[in-house]
Amino acid sequence: VKKKHSGKETFLDEIYTELYITKGKTTELNDEHEVRRIEAASWKQNRPRETIRSEEIFKSPEGRNQIRTVMTMGVAGIGKTVLTQRFTLDWAEGRTNQKIQFIFPFTFRQLNVLKEEKFSLVELIHKHFKPIRDAGIHSFENFQVLFILDGLDESRLSLHHDEILTDVTESTSVDVLLTNLIRGKLLPKALLWITTRPAAANQIPPECVGMVTEVRGFTDPQKEDYFRKRFRDEEKASRIISHIKRLKSLFIMCHIPIFCWITADVLEGLLETRDGGELPKTLTGMYIRFLKLQIERKMIKYDGGQNTDSPWTPENIKIVQSLGKLAFEQLLEGNLIFYKPDLKKCGINIIDASMHSGLFTEIFKEERGMEDTSVYSFVHLSFQEFLAAVYMLHCFTSRNTEVVENFLGEKYRETSLEDFMKKVMEKSLKSKNGHLDLFARFLHGLSVESNHKLLGFLLGQTETSPEIIQKIINNLKEMNTDEDVSPDRSINIFHCRLEMQDFSVYQEIQQFLKSGKKLSEIQCSALAYMLQMSELLDEINLEKCNTSAGGRRRLVPAVRNCRKARLNYCSLSEISCASLVSALNSNPSHLTELDLSNNDLKDGGVKQLCGFLQSPLCKLQTLRLLGCSLSEISCASLDSALKSNPSHLTELDLSNNNDLKDGGVKQLCGFRQSPLCKLQTLRLNGCSLSEISCASLVSALKSNPSHLTELDLSDNDLKDGGVKQLCGFLQSSLCKLQTLRSVTMFNCASLGSALKANPSHLTELDLSRNDLKDGGVKQLFGFLQSPLCKLQTLRSVTMF
Ligand SMILES: *[C@@H]1O[C@H](CO)[C@@H](O)[C@H](O)[C@H]1NC(C)=O
Repeated sequence: VKKKHSGKETFLDEIYTELYITKGKTTELNDEHEVRRIEAASWKQNRPRETIRSEEIFKSPEGRNQIRTVMTMGVAGIGKTVLTQRFTLDWAEGRTNQKIQFIFPFTFRQLNVLKEEKFSLVELIHKHFKPIRDAGIHSFENFQVLFILDGLDESRLSLHHDEILTDVTESTSVDVLLTNLIRGKLLPKALLWITTRPAAANQIPPECVGMVTEVRGFTDPQKEDYFRKRFRDEEKASRIISHIKRLKSLFIMCHIPIFCWITADVLEGLLETRDGGELPKTLTGMYIRFLKLQIERKMIKYDGGQNTDSPWTPENIKIVQSLGKLAFEQLLEGNLIFYKPDLKKCGINIIDASMHSGLFTEIFKEERGMEDTSVYSFVHLSFQEFLAAVYMLHCFTSRNTEVVENFLGEKYRETSLEDFMKKVMEKSLKSKNGHLDLFARFLHGLSVESNHKLLGFLLGQTETSPEIIQKIINNLKEMNTDEDVSPDRSINIFHCRLEMQDFSVYQEIQQFLKSGKKLSEIQCSALAYMLQMSELLDEINLEKCNTSAGGRRRLVPAVRNCRKARLNYCSLSEISCASLVSALNSNPSHLTELDLSNNDLKDGGVKQLCGFLQSPLCKLQTLRLLGCSLSEISCASLDSALKSNPSHLTELDLSNNNDLKDGGVKQLCGFRQSPLCKLQTLRLNGCSLSEISCASLVSALKSNPSHLTELDLSDNDLKDGGVKQLCGFLQSSLCKLQTLRSVTMFNCASLGSALKANPSHLTELDLSRNDLKDGGVKQLFGFLQSPLCKLQTLRSVTMF
C-alpha cells in the first residue's frame, strides 16, 4: 500500500471522506432504530448526521459487536477505492485497527483475470501476497483477517453458486471461492469489505451483508479543504476557491471528488496560461477543457510545442479517436477495464496502449496485475464515458454509418443531429443499469455549439444552431413525460438538459418531485444536487414526495435555493436541523417562509435553527413549528434569537407542542415586549396553557404597541380567569386583534361586554369548541347587534 501511495499523486491523496450509514442489517437492531441511535451518539460528540469514521467501519453502531461484512456504496468518482486504500494505509502504519492481523485487498478487476483458473483460497492469497507464501502461512482460522473486495460493479464473475466450500485448501474456481467467502461458509470469522456502485449492489444477497454504508462525497468545508491541500500555495488555493464559489454550479458539482480533481487542474491551467476565457459551467465543458489541457501539456513536454499551438493536430486527433473507440466499444459491453485481447479487438496494439498511457497519464493508465498481465483502464470511468461520447459524435458527423447503425441496432441514414440525439437517448432509456447515462449526458453537452467549437476538427463538421438545440431540448422534455420512464432515467434526462444549458428544467424537477413516482434515497440526492444549482425557486414542498424519511432528509439542502420551504412530515430530527441550517446559512438567504411542522425537532433542533434566526442574513417572515415536541427551552432560544437581530418575523406558529406550557409563553413574552417584535400572528393552539399564560400575554401585548392581529389559543385550558384577562385586553385601545380563535370555556358575559367597550377590530371569532350556554349566546347577540361590531366570521357555536 505504501508503495502505491508513494508514486504519482492520486487524485484523492490525503483526502478523507465521511461514511454515512444508510441501512443496518444486523439482526438485533431494526433499521430505523439503528440510525437513530447513531444520530444520538454522534449528537453527543457534536458530529452531526449519521456518519461513522472509516476506521470504525466494522464496529456495529453501538460499538459492541463486530460486523462481518460491510458493503460501501457510492456513485462513480465519489472515492470508494481511495477510502479502502486510506483504511489500509492507516492500518499498515499502525495507526488504526491493530486487532486485524492481515488485510488482503483485492479488486474485482484483478480477480476477473483469474476467471478461468482454479485456486484454493490459500493459493489465491499466496499468489497475490508473496510475503505470506514466503512466511509459510497456510491457515488463517486463527488470525483476524480482512478481505477487501473493491469495485463489485466491475465484476465479470458470477457470484451465484450453490456449491458449498469450507476448506481453504480446496481448489475451485474464483467464482465459487468468492461466493463462499461472501456467504460466510469459507472463513466465517474473516471480515469482508465490499465496495460498489449502487446499481451493482444487488449481486450480494442482503442476508450476507451486516451493514451498508455510503460514501456521499465532499461537504462544503471538505471541498475547500481539498483545494487547500492540493495547492499547498495558499494564495493560489484561495484564488481558485473564490473562482469556484463564484460559479455556484461548479461549487455544487465539486461534491464529487473526481470533479474537484479535474476542476483544480483545469482552473490552474487557465490561470497559468492567462487565457482565462470563460469558465466552463457544465460537466462537458469541464471535461473538454481537461482533455485539451492534457494534450497541450503533452505537446509541450514531448513534441516541443508552444502554448499557443492548436492541440488538434492530425496525430493528436488520431490518438483521441482510437482511445474513444476503445472507450465506446468497451462501454457497450459494460467493461471498465481492459486486457490485451480487448485492446486488440479495438485495433490498438500494446505498444500504442503503453504509449497512450505514458502520454496521457491523467486519462488512461496501465497497471501490472497478477502474473504480470497488464490491466488497462481510464483513470476514471467518466473519462471513458466522455471519450466514448466524443467518438460517437465523431462517427455521426463523419457519416461512419457502420458504427452508428451497430450502436442503434437499425438501418440509419438520417443526417439531422436532433434525430440522431433522440435515437441515442431512446437507446439509453432502455438500459436497466444506466450504463449509458453519463455517455448520453456528455453527448448532449457536446452538441452545444460553444463546446463543439472547443473540440474543433476532432468532431468533424456538423450543423448546429439554436433552433436545432431547441429541438433537441424539446425532444428530451417529451421523453420525460412518458409514464414508463424510470426515475433514474428521468433524472438523467434532467441532467442532459442541464448539459445543454436549458435552465427551465428546474421547475420540472419540482413537478417531478410531486409526481408520486417512488424515489430512492440516492435519487433524492441527485435531485437535491440539481435543485441546489438552480436559480431561486419560489417554493419547495417535500411533503408530497414519495420517498422514505432518509430520502426527504437528502432533499433538505435544496432549501438553500428557495423562497418558501415546506418541510412538514419530513422526519427531520435535531440532527437534520444541522444540515438544514448549514444550507440556510450558506447563501444570502431568500427564504421568507419555513414550515417545519410535524418533525421531531425537539429543543435541540430549534436551538440549531436559532443559529440561523440570529443571523443578519435571515429574512424569515413566517416560521411554523407545529407539533415539533418543543418545550419552554425552545421558547427561550427563540426569544433570545429574535431579540438579537432586527427580526423580520411576522408569523409564528407553535401549536401542538404540549410541553410548551405557561413557562414557554412567559419566555416568548419576553420577546413580545421587545421593540423588535413585529409579530402579527401568533398561534399557540394546544400548548397546555392556563390562565397564567393569558396574564403574561396580556401584559406583553399592552406594554408595547402591538402589531398582533391574530391570536390562536384554542385547545388550552384557559379557564375563566384567563378569559377575563384576555377580555381586559380586548377592551384596551391598544388591541388590534382581528382574529381570535376558540378559547375554551369562554365566558360570553365578559366577552360581550369587552367587545362593546372598544371600537373593535375583531373580524373573526372562532368559538367552535366551546359549550356556550343560552346565557352566553344572548350576550353575543347583544354584541352582534351593536354598531361597533365588525365581525365578518363567526364559527359554529354549539347550542346556539
Ligand atoms: C409511491 O410509489 C409507489 C411505488 O411506485 C406507489 O405504489 C404508491 O402509490 C406511491 N404513493 C403515492 C402517495 O403516490
